[in-house]
Amino acid sequence: MRIILCGFGVVGQSLVKLFVSRSEDLYAKYGLKPRVVGVFDSKGSAVDQSGLDLEKLILVKKEFGTVKNYAKTKNNYSGLDMIKNIDADVLIETTASNYKDAEPGMTHITNAMKSGMHVISVNKGPLALAFPSLMELATYNQVMFKFSGTVGGGTPILDYAKNSLKGERITSFAGILNGTTNYILTNMANGLSFDAALNDAKSKGYVEADESLDLDGLDAAAKLVILANWVMDMKVTMPDIKCTGIRKVTTENIKNAAKKKCAVKLIASCNKELEVSPKEISVDDPLCVNGTLNAIAFTSEHSGTQTIIGKGAGGMETASSILRDLLDIRQEIART
Ligand SMILES: NC(=O)c1ccc[n+]([C@@H]2O[C@H](COP(=O)([O-])OP(=O)(O)OC[C@H]3O[C@@H](n4cnc5c(N)ncnc54)[C@H](OP(=O)(O)O)[C@@H]3O)[C@@H](O)[C@H]2O)c1
Repeated sequence: MRIILCGFGVVGQSLVKLFVSRSEDLYAKYGLKPRVVGVFDSKGSAVDQSGLDLEKLILVKKEFGTVKNYAKTKNNYSGLDMIKNIDADVLIETTASNYKDAEPGMTHITNAMKSGMHVISVNKGPLALAFPSLMELATYNQVMFKFSGTVGGGTPILDYAKNSLKGERITSFAGILNGTTNYILTNMANGLSFDAALNDAKSKGYVEADESLDLDGLDAAAKLVILANWVMDMKVTMPDIKCTGIRKVTTENIKNAAKKKCAVKLIASCNKELEVSPKEISVDDPLCVNGTLNAIAFTSEHSGTQTIIGKGAGGMETASSILRDLLDIRQEIART
């Protein structure tokens, strides 16, 4: 299966390492032979229509900080050039999420679909701003569009709601979908001030380069948009979310909650309305997880409420969700 990989950061490199370490059993068990024919980062690209040497690619990125030094004769492909000129079956989009115009991911995804490529995205930006129209574009171009890693990292939240609860009517859900804010709130409950908890999270590399994505609830809101569209068949985008982050949560709020055996958590919920905001929840609620963990509780008409808990991020975890999507695409192609 020929692949174009957009972005070669934490997730992109983890995926390539996964391909290297699993190459034999992926072929033996699933008949999957991933052939990465093109990859690009913000500084340049590497192309080989017969398949790039993945171990070399990692070494080159490590040594030069970009994949463009992969070959002696460098090519000047931009992402868009590559998508328009290189033959591939699947485009995997792993560039940075942005919620202003969703670029460069939006251009990559829409052009790949128009060129007849299936698309896997872990980049939430395009889905948060244009989920309904991207689904329409995929259908129009008869390509598959997968995005398991956008919510919950490696924890299969979307798949659980869509497939394990097949036939059920999910009436509402609520979850902790951002590990960074959960880590900060957990540390505040353990006595740190907001600033000290934020600095600690930064020192561990948990906070996005643009801290507003975490602190103002944008990352959680983007995931809520994806869940609402995918699980509840709503046609919504970011402006439909009522969003409040955690900047105004004080140690006083947290102490008051603790007196009632509650904790303050940033909750993304879909009930009568779509909302992200700090809420008090009982410490005995299964949703009340600590540290960087994510959790989500789905309530459905006949099956009651189930809570899924797992790590919401991590390079390898997210790469494993891309692999799941790739296997789905492989199986679907083999079936038709
Ligand atoms: N990390 C996680 O645990 C996780 C979990 C779920 C979803 N995600 C999502 O997955 C995506 C990737 O995350 P990450 O942690 O791998 O981020 P990252 O380490 O910052 O990597 C982003 C990659 O995109 C490249 N890039 C940025 N702007 C570009 C442009 N204009 N043209 C071409 N390439 C560009 C960067 O190039 P350079 O290498 O040259 O800087 C880098 O290779 C993000 O959208 C993130 O929200 C991440």
